[in-house]
Amino acid sequence: MEKRLRVREILTRGEVGSEIMVKGWVRTVREGKNVTFLALNDGSCMAALQIVVEPGAPDYPEICGLGTGSAVMVRGILAESPASGQNVELHACEITITGRSDESYPLQKKRHSFEYLRSIAHLRPRTNTLGAVFRVRSSIAQAIHRFFCDRGFLYVHTPIITANDCEGAGEMFRVTTMDPCKPPLVEGRVDYSADFFGQSTGLTVSGQLEGELFALAFSDIYTFGPTFRAENSNTARHVAEFWMIEPEMAFADLMADASLAEEFFRYLCRHALENCREDLEFLNQYVEKGLVTRLESIADASFAMMEYREAVERLTKVSGQFKYPVEWGLDLQTEHERYITENIVGGPVFIVNYPKDIKAFYMRLNDDGRTVAAMDMLVPKVGEIIGGSQREERIDLLEKRMTEMGISHEGLWWYLDTRRWGSCPHAGFGLGFERLIMYLTGMENIRDVIPFPRTPGHAEF
Ligand code: 4AD
Ligand code: MG
Repeated sequence: MEKRLRVREILTRGEVGSEIMVKGWVRTVREGKNVTFLALNDGSCMAALQIVVEPGAPDYPEICGLGTGSAVMVRGILAESPASGQNVELHACEITITGRSDESYPLQKKRHSFEYLRSIAHLRPRTNTLGAVFRVRSSIAQAIHRFFCDRGFLYVHTPIITANDCEGAGEMFRVTTMDPCKPPLVEGRVDYSADFFGQSTGLTVSGQLEGELFALAFSDIYTFGPTFRAENSNTARHVAEFWMIEPEMAFADLMADASLAEEFFRYLCRHALENCREDLEFLNQYVEKGLVTRLESIADASFAMMEYREAVERLTKVSGQFKYPVEWGLDLQTEHERYITENIVGGPVFIVNYPKDIKAFYMRLNDDGRTVAAMDMLVPKVGEIIGGSQREERIDLLEKRMTEMGISHEGLWWYLDTRRWGSCPHAGFGLGFERLIMYLTGMENIRDVIPFPRTPGHAEF
C-alpha cells in the first residue's frame, strides 16, 4: 500500500506543492458551484483535511454522492487554501473508495446525545467529542509513564487474577473453571481446592499489596493496569472495570505521599494543556465552558489539606441539604465530598486521617488509636479521585488489625513477611484513571471516557 501522511502531519507540516496520499473517513460532502469539497478525518487530530475534487475527476458523480462515514484514499497535490479556517487543502488527482456508507449510517451530521452514543459504542470513536476524549486518554496514559520514569520509579505489572481482596469490600469478581451446574462439594460447600488454582480466586480490585512487595525491593514503584469491582452501583462515577495508577514509595510518610499526588496531578493537567490543546479547545466549547481556565488554575494552585475531623465539623454546620448523614465515624458520601471541594475549598483538597473503622486494614494507625494515616484527594466535579495512605509497617499492629477485621493471616502470610524482615515506613495511593479523564475533559459520565464501559447489565461491546 502506498505510504500515506496523516491529517495531523499534513496540517502541521505539509509541504505546499508536494504530491501526497491521505486515507480516512468522509465527514461531509459539500457540492460547490464548480468543485466538490470533502472533509476528511483520519482520527489523528480533531480537524479534517479539505479535499477539493474537480468535475473532471474520474467517478465525479459517485464522489459527490458519498455518504458521511465513507472510507477513501486520496492522492493529490497540497495547495494553499484560499478559504478561511485552514491553511492548506488537497487537490485530488485520484480517489479510491474503499468502503461506502449511506443514510442508514447512525452518525449523520447532527449532534447526538451521549446516551445514544453509548448504545453504538462500536461507532462512537468516530465522533468529534469521543475522538477528543480518546486522544486525550491516550496522551495522558503516556504522560503517566513519563512522569514516573523521569523520577526513577519502577513500573511493575501486578497480577490480574488474585486470591486476595485488597480493599476487603467483598467486591471481587470470581474467576473459576468449575462447572456452575455441578461444582465439587464438600459437606454442602463448594470445594475450591478442586478449582483451577487450587483455591478461590478473583479479578484484582487493586495492585497495591503486590506493589508494596516491590516497593520494599525497588524503593519507588508504580502500577498502571485494569482493576475490577463488582460494585452494584449505577452512578456516573463508577464502572466495574477501570484503570488505576498506583505508586508506592518506601521510606515515605503520608505527607510525602500527598506531595507526590499533588505534583503528579498538576503535571498531568499541564501535560493536557500543552499537548492536547486542540481537543481541549473543542471540549471547552461543546462540553464544559471554562474547562481550559479550570485546568490552567490547577496547574499553578497549591492544594488544600483538611483533617477528616474538620471536614465533618464544617459539613455539620451546613447539613440539612444532604441526603446522607454526616457524623464522626461515618464515611463521606459523594455529595459531601463535592460540597467540600466545590463550596468550602473551591479547588482540590486532601482529606486526611480518617476513622480506622471506615478504612482498609493496611492503613497505618495514628497515635490517637482511633484514626489512620489515610488521604483522599477530592476535586470539583468528580469528588474522590485519589485514595491513598501510609501503610502499617509494624507487624504487631498489623496482625492485631487483621484479627479485629476478620482477615485471615494465612491468606496474607507473604504480605506479613515483608513486615517481618526489612520493614520500613512506606506509603502510596491509587488514582482512578477514568475519573482523571473526566476531570481533564469535562465529561460528566464515566461511561463516556472509557472505550467500552462495563457496568451492571452491560458488557456487550
Ligand atoms: O480508594 P480506592 O479504593 O483505593 C485503593 O484501591 C487503594 N488500594 C489505592 C492505593 O492506595 N494504592 O480506589 C482508588 C481510586 C479512587 O479514588 C477512584 O478514583 C478510583 O480508584 N475508583 C474507581 N473508579 C471508577 N469506578 C470505580 N468503581 C472505582 N472505584 C475506585
Ligand atoms: Mg477510596
